[in-house]
Amino acid sequence: MYLTDNEKAMLNGDFGEIVQKCMKVLVTLGDIYGAEKMIEINNVHSPGVSYRVAGDAGLNYVKGASLQGCFRVPTTLNTIGIDSDNWEKIGFPKEFSLKQLELVDAYKKMGAFCTNTCTPYLVGNTPMFGEHISWGESSAIAYVNSVIGARTNREGGPSALAAGVTGRVPAYGYHLDENRKGKYLIELEVDLKTDRDYAVLGYYVGQRVGKDVPVFNGIKNRPTLENLKALSAALASSGAVALYHIEGVTPETLTGKVMADNFETFKFGSEEYRKVTEKFNYDGDVDIVVLGCPHCSIVEMKQIAEQLTDKKLKSDMWVCTSRQIKSLADIMGYTKIIERAGAEVVCDTCPILCPTLDKGYERVVTTSGKLAHYMPGLWNVKTALLQLEDCINAGIDGEWRRGI
Ligand code: F3S
Repeated sequence: MYLTDNEKAMLNGDFGEIVQKCMKVLVTLGDIYGAEKMIEINNVHSPGVSYRVAGDAGLNYVKGASLQGCFRVPTTLNTIGIDSDNWEKIGFPKEFSLKQLELVDAYKKMGAFCTNTCTPYLVGNTPMFGEHISWGESSAIAYVNSVIGARTNREGGPSALAAGVTGRVPAYGYHLDENRKGKYLIELEVDLKTDRDYAVLGYYVGQRVGKDVPVFNGIKNRPTLENLKALSAALASSGAVALYHIEGVTPETLTGKVMADNFETFKFGSEEYRKVTEKFNYDGDVDIVVLGCPHCSIVEMKQIAEQLTDKKLKSDMWVCTSRQIKSLADIMGYTKIIERAGAEVVCDTCPILCPTLDKGYERVVTTSGKLAHYMPGLWNVKTALLQLEDCINAGIDGEWRRGI
């Protein structure tokens, strides 16, 4: 692989041991994927920050790195395993929580912004069109590649850390024009209105296309940010989609040809829609409602607060968001309303990465295609995938009845 003089110096250890180690990681990756050179990047969103995933090995590695080096480019952190302010109140185990805080602290020493969210694009890490970046977290990757048109591969903790320390990524995958073309054209035959509709679409298409690039045609109403957040998360979990295009909506469809020379076409109509909803069609008492996967936007916090005003929940409810969005929700009075109804507003963490939610719940409703996909296997629960309004009503009633 071609390396500039500066990159060779990094590899030779001229900038210290951790920079050398990181450059070795990137060169090895580049060799594996046939990269011809490195690309300079402008920012990183780092996964692997949850102690549940990183464990002691990850903690020790980052602590060691923090003694020797720091991030060269702005770096935000993905979700962690606890609510860092309220871990005792919510009931996160002490030993786990302290290790988690140590891990975040090590990243902070390296210069990372402790955003602790899977929606960094809502809290200041908003790359520009065409910018090369290094991001982890599957839903955020699909969002930033597709909706913003920045360029990242699906990075893990070690490669994102290496990219942050060196400011480089090997030039392969979604950094290159030729890998950003659509392999599947999906003709929409249903009108999409709610986040749930987009989650259902994403779930179906992710299963069909795996890790290839889908292109959607025929979406009539302009999707909202929340719609696209839901679509990105579902595509990236039932499949491994890191990039999609929507004709007339996402930027690459406005700036050039997005279909590959050879592609397959399939439709998404009411039958395809039904196949997904039938899969997550639990009907009965509800133990917990989980909202905010990916983390809630301020618009979602407002919707939840409006619907919960002067209401009491019969089921448990978790509303997951970032600390930055919660601060705004506090100012707007939304947090108080949501908590008064009996819900927990949980920051920093993720229902899947935290050790608290797998504690005996059997019946879960959610708006999230990603959670609906992972929860049954992880927690052995029955799941309903509903639109936000229905999720909240199910929490208020303590049950979900289809067709009522
Ligand atoms: Fe975010 Fe966790 Fe969902 S990282 S997208 S809340 S599974």
